[in-house]
Amino acid sequence: MQQIADWLEKLGLSEYAQCFAENDIDFTILGDLTDQDLEKIGIASLGHRRKLLRAIANLETIEKSAPAVAVAAPAAPLPLDTAERRQVTVMFADLVGSTALSARMDPEDLREVISAYQKCAAETVRRFDGFVAKYMGDGVLVYFGYPQAHEDDAERAVRAGLELIAAVAGLKTRASLQTRVGIATGVVVVGELIGSGEAQERGIVGETPNLAARLQAVAAPNKVVISDGTRRLLGNLFELQELEAKSLKGISGSVRAWAVLRPSSVESRFEALHPNGLSALVGREEEAELMSRRWSRAKTGEGQVVLISGEAGIGKSRLTAALLESLAGDPHTRLRYFCSPQHTDSALYPIIAQIERAAGLTHDDAAQAKLDKLDALLAKSSTSAQDAALFAEMLSLPNDGRHLALDLSPQQRREKTLAALTSQVAALARWSPVLMIFEDAHWVDPTSLEVFSRTVDRIEALPVLLVVTFRPEFDPPWVGRAYVTALTINRLTEREARAMIDRIVGNKPLPPSIREDVVERSDGIPLFIEEMTKAVLEAESQHAAELTVGAVPSPALAVPASLHASLMARLDRLGPAKDVAQVGAAIGREFSHALLAAVARKPESELSSALDRLIQSGLLFRQGVPPHANYLFKHALVQDAAYGTLLREPRRALHARIVETLGSEFAEIAESQPELMARHCTEAGFVEEAVDYWERAGRQALGRSAMAEAVAQLTKGLEVLESLSSGPEHQRREINLQLVMGPALIAAKGFASPEAMRAYARARELCRGLGDVSDVFPALYGQSVFHFQRGELVAANELAQELLRLAEERGEVGAQVTGHRLLGATLSQLGRLTESRDHFTAALGLYDPVRDRSSAFVYAVDSRVISLSWLSHVFAVLGYPKEAAGSDGEAPAHARELNHPNTMAVALVLSCMFHQLLRDTPNARSQAEAVIALATEQDFPFYLAAGTAVRGWVLAEGGRAEEAVMEIRRGAVDYGATGAQLWSPYFLGLLAEAQGKAGQATTGLSVGLGSRCSHT
Ligand SMILES: Nc1ncnc2c1ncn2[C@@H]1O[C@H](COP(=O)(O)OP(=O)(O)O)[C@@H](O)[C@H]1O
Ligand SMILES: [Mg+2]
Repeated sequence: MQQIADWLEKLGLSEYAQCFAENDIDFTILGDLTDQDLEKIGIASLGHRRKLLRAIANLETIEKSAPAVAVAAPAAPLPLDTAERRQVTVMFADLVGSTALSARMDPEDLREVISAYQKCAAETVRRFDGFVAKYMGDGVLVYFGYPQAHEDDAERAVRAGLELIAAVAGLKTRASLQTRVGIATGVVVVGELIGSGEAQERGIVGETPNLAARLQAVAAPNKVVISDGTRRLLGNLFELQELEAKSLKGISGSVRAWAVLRPSSVESRFEALHPNGLSALVGREEEAELMSRRWSRAKTGEGQVVLISGEAGIGKSRLTAALLESLAGDPHTRLRYFCSPQHTDSALYPIIAQIERAAGLTHDDAAQAKLDKLDALLAKSSTSAQDAALFAEMLSLPNDGRHLALDLSPQQRREKTLAALTSQVAALARWSPVLMIFEDAHWVDPTSLEVFSRTVDRIEALPVLLVVTFRPEFDPPWVGRAYVTALTINRLTEREARAMIDRIVGNKPLPPSIREDVVERSDGIPLFIEEMTKAVLEAESQHAAELTVGAVPSPALAVPASLHASLMARLDRLGPAKDVAQVGAAIGREFSHALLAAVARKPESELSSALDRLIQSGLLFRQGVPPHANYLFKHALVQDAAYGTLLREPRRALHARIVETLGSEFAEIAESQPELMARHCTEAGFVEEAVDYWERAGRQALGRSAMAEAVAQLTKGLEVLESLSSGPEHQRREINLQLVMGPALIAAKGFASPEAMRAYARARELCRGLGDVSDVFPALYGQSVFHFQRGELVAANELAQELLRLAEERGEVGAQVTGHRLLGATLSQLGRLTESRDHFTAALGLYDPVRDRSSAFVYAVDSRVISLSWLSHVFAVLGYPKEAAGSDGEAPAHARELNHPNTMAVALVLSCMFHQLLRDTPNARSQAEAVIALATEQDFPFYLAAGTAVRGWVLAEGGRAEEAVMEIRRGAVDYGATGAQLWSPYFLGLLAEAQGKAGQATTGLSVGLGSRCSHT
């Protein structure tokens, strides 16, 4: 009944709502009502009764045409038991002045008019594979991209809009009709959401339909108006006119809108979609060279064909563009043909379009002018009169009497047209070599394919190079001939991908981790690289940028709008296999058959046919044989797209199922891959488990010295923790995370990283809140080391004393070891050498290999190794060379046993400095080189810098003083960049020495003097 009330309200007749309700009138019987009925139930006004009857008549039209549309719908309706998120282009079209029409016309006539209009709309939309979702009076709501996505949905919508306007204007109805069209693109939720039953249409929830309707309302009659989102996907395919920014009802902020004037006459789709120019070519040297060799051969009269195949976005068009660029100075005739996804059935489409462009026909040329231009073009190739007539016909130009009327059967006409087209190429080739580019042959119409086949047959003896590009689904019939070369374009290497990103980014800042994410997710496909990079650059902040590429909280953002449609198109072709893809996507880029089967809970036969489907369609790779097989999404972005279609709740439920399944049936995976569990727990909303797993993951990564990973995982743990209510449990969890974070940051960013300091300070503060907890030791330790590395020795010393005092008070021997070696280090730098030696000796005395083994993980370095390393320096300065050498020899040996890269790096760096102090060049060199290699491999900037400076000194000793100066400077600068200063004076000393050797003694002296008093 509410519906009736709404309907009446729309008609402005809501005063009758109650009387309709009292008489039990619902939609099903509206159509039976007569004028008398209405009068009987109390509608006295004749005007109102007429208005109601007219509206009822309109409703009937809608009901009648709705089923017809459903039949005409492009894709077989999919089972719609689940709603999903996806990007859709929505078109809203409405008749202009329909209220005026309804006032003027008899209901019967109006009904005819509306019915003709709706039929016309349905047909036009169907040609572009759109979906008529709903008739709303005289308005039509259409989706492009749902239920079936195409890679060019935005373009389809605009073309359909333009054609709809033309078709409606041409309708022979009692009144001449005009239409307005509004188009908008955005991410929406689609599917049957709120029950079913009366709401028959496939609902879309989101701002986009509303925006399309509002844009329609501001459009001038017979105009298509598009939103910014749509425009961005169109490149230069259409000529647009920007409208004044408007504020639209129900939409926040002012909205930019464009009127579409007409399709643009740009030559190539590829160029139209790259309005801002091309990215500089990366790689592809061999391919380019091969093409240029084929061109040289073709020029001599041995015609050549090059077939370029590769998946969408791999760079086929870019490669042909490179060929065109390289031939710029080489006289030739160019013929470029572009197949189009919307014209796979329109005969000779690419050829007609080529001729129209070559002749320079424009949309507002009169027929006469077009014929003149065509004649001028054909004169260049001395085309016969009969062929000219055929060409004019092919272009659907009227014959103004200049051509002979051709009296041919359709069969003959076709034959002669094809012959004329082939000889055209031969005629042109007589004047100069011809380069033919035939793009996107997978979309070719059958007639054009035949023309090209004939051309290939003739090319062999002509100075022509024909380059054909296509996706792997096209099977070119010309392979195997001697003059045909087939070329498959492969993905770019990671190095090339990085180069491409760098060129797109230019000098804008892009964090390296994001760059690596783009490299990883784009899988070496240039289109993905380009679009991901642009999306990341457009993201307003780094955080937004991380969301764009990063998986965790908001994967729906992960796929840039420009790629969404093409990826969805691949998924939609899967039909029912799509939900298996979604399950797989939730598990990850890779998944095992067993896990998938356990989570998907489908009959084995159904599952395996879905998997076969995914493999056939090129979305998955399979390794091994089910049930022992493993699967890998061929593209990370396909995985993202499949995952992104899941709504929040089903997505959460899926992750919960994965957590359960992993926990119960795959315990070994849950155990060995805590980060996997952490991710699924996070997505499943199991907060506490998630935090614990992130911590475990962080520890595990730290144990393996995978520092960047550890930091990332711990950060996620802290983020998830925020959603947990505070209390002692919360604090304990946070302390744990911070204390793993500290050493991870130290290793990743250097000892003086302020982030590490923050982690330790936060942990210490939390410990204070909790009272007597042993976690305070690592927190104090971290703070002391921070100050130590910055050369703030007094502060470092105080913290070390506090640590030792607390450790002694509480009888914690492990912590005492740490306290002693910290004090040993700070005292050594303060020049209190004997005290220093005593503390180190105490540390070594208390050290227990079993208990203190974990010190490497809690304190980033093993206490024994670092004590030995420092002692070697202290002994040397105190004048005990034998003891010094003994300690120095022991340290790396012990470090090797521990197999802990960070400890090894400390031992090596202190050792190379030790040998430098003794001016023992060979050993200084070998240890410096060892630390450089290790630090490079492990990505430890701090040790790399220190090792570099010492190696610089070695160079100076070897007589390469100028190089040495550069190397030491680089090391010192990089060292300073980690925030550390402790060794800066020492490096400056090395620099001064090298400068002296390089004949820059004055500079060297002032550098050396400057180095003196920098410690406090
Ligand atoms: N080797 C390359 N170096 C730089 N950019 C490239 C390269 N290959 C492709 N691109 C860019 O990637 C995008 C997709 O390439 P495109 O040639 O359109 O692919 P295809 O024609 O195979 O579908 C284009 O924007 C193109 O400029
Ligand atoms: Mg292309």
